Amino acid sequence: MDRFDVTSTVGDVEAQNTKLKNSLPFSLGRFHISEDYGFLLPDPLKELSHYYMPWMEIANNLPLMIESHQLRVRVDEMPLLSCHLLKGHREQYLAHLLLSFITMGYVWQEGEKNIPKVLPRNLALPFVEVSQNLGLPPILVHSDFVLSNWKKKDPDGPLEIRNLDIIVSLPGGESLKGFILVTLLVEKAAVPGIKALTQAINAVLQSSEDELLQALKQMRTSVVDMIKALRQMHDYVDPAIFYAVIRIFLSGWKDNPAIPEGLIYEGVSEEPLKYSGGSAAQSTVFHAFDELLGVCHSKESTAFLHRMREYMPPSHRAFIEEIHSAPSLREYILSSGSCLLREAYNQCVMALAELRSCHINIVAKYVLTGATKAKDGGLSPLPGTPQALAARGTGGTAVFNFLKSVRDTTMEGIIKQCD
Ligand code: HEM
Repeated sequence: MDRFDVTSTVGDVEAQNTKLKNSLPFSLGRFHISEDYGFLLPDPLKELSHYYMPWMEIANNLPLMIESHQLRVRVDEMPLLSCHLLKGHREQYLAHLLLSFITMGYVWQEGEKNIPKVLPRNLALPFVEVSQNLGLPPILVHSDFVLSNWKKKDPDGPLEIRNLDIIVSLPGGESLKGFILVTLLVEKAAVPGIKALTQAINAVLQSSEDELLQALKQMRTSVVDMIKALRQMHDYVDPAIFYAVIRIFLSGWKDNPAIPEGLIYEGVSEEPLKYSGGSAAQSTVFHAFDELLGVCHSKESTAFLHRMREYMPPSHRAFIEEIHSAPSLREYILSSGSCLLREAYNQCVMALAELRSCHINIVAKYVLTGATKAKDGGLSPLPGTPQALAARGTGGTAVFNFLKSVRDTTMEGIIKQCD
């Protein structure tokens, strides 16, 4: 079951999308995308008002409560709180972050054994309500895990890993923190590329070849910086910890053999609901670049990637749709006859494919090598390493075929060079 089955705000979200589409010119502000932070939530809130203390107390102690098998008991005793005191989008995002982390801990506290069939109403009801308010599904999404889950140690210091921390944690210690923060650095490295993307669209609208050339060069540099940021995963995340501890807490209840029926959200629906787990496939950056460059993936991959868009904040989803409906950059370059533009476009496509190759190497290391190292290593507080997830991604995809296909179809975007 998808987002659309439980949200009563779909009409609002669609209306918002149409409104966004009809206002010009093409700029980041229209989509609540920051000039400085891109898709990251700028300066996320770290605390809610005193009324929400029961959520905060649990969310702030998740690793300990999960490792001591106490979380479910604590959640069952939690009072049912109303969402009416949540003011503005920053409080709503923090509430979604807290409730999504508590939910993942609740479901996966015992690993793949004794998985609960029901999410209790004192967690399910507010989680679904805040999800409806934000236009997000009631499960942990990339926007919780990374975009809203960061703070600076020194508020005046730089946005660099040594000055960063996460707001809410799960088991996995320093590796979990590194996994979140390196992903954040990839999002940060994408910011100049996202700005360049809007410049490229405006340049096409104004038929300005010089501006387009500059924008494409800027975008390529940004993708190269994303590759450098992504490689830092090796420095901060231990593959065995990733495999044995972290991965399961990102798992969802759709296409997951460990929880084939899905999860009943008590008080929301008597039928179990199915949602995919958290994944950076829900990062708007890659979708936006693909749309700008006119990259076409296979039918199957496109179906998965488009489903992941439903796990993004609605304004970010609207941004991708707006790029899709803008005049085609590829067609413009082909008809311009400019060899310089072709070259700059191809450089962007190649850099994006290289970013995907780098990602494939990382997935191979963290999923395959992690599996070997984690075997009987006693690293997980959970009873037994999750078996059903062994060769699968957190979103339940036949992972390597999918990732390679997406990389290869990116390369197919290359335009034949001038003779
Ligand atoms: C240890 C690190 C990582 C692992 C093990 C990993 C694993 C995966 C897996 C298994 C998938 C398949 C889809 C799914 O099952 O959800 C996937 C997809 C994807 N991941 Fe990662 N990932 C990692 C880090 C990152 C980072 C840091 C980014 C960038 C922000 C990223 C971006 C993507 C994207 C965009 C996709 C969709 C496929 C594509 O467009 O190429 N991943 N990842």
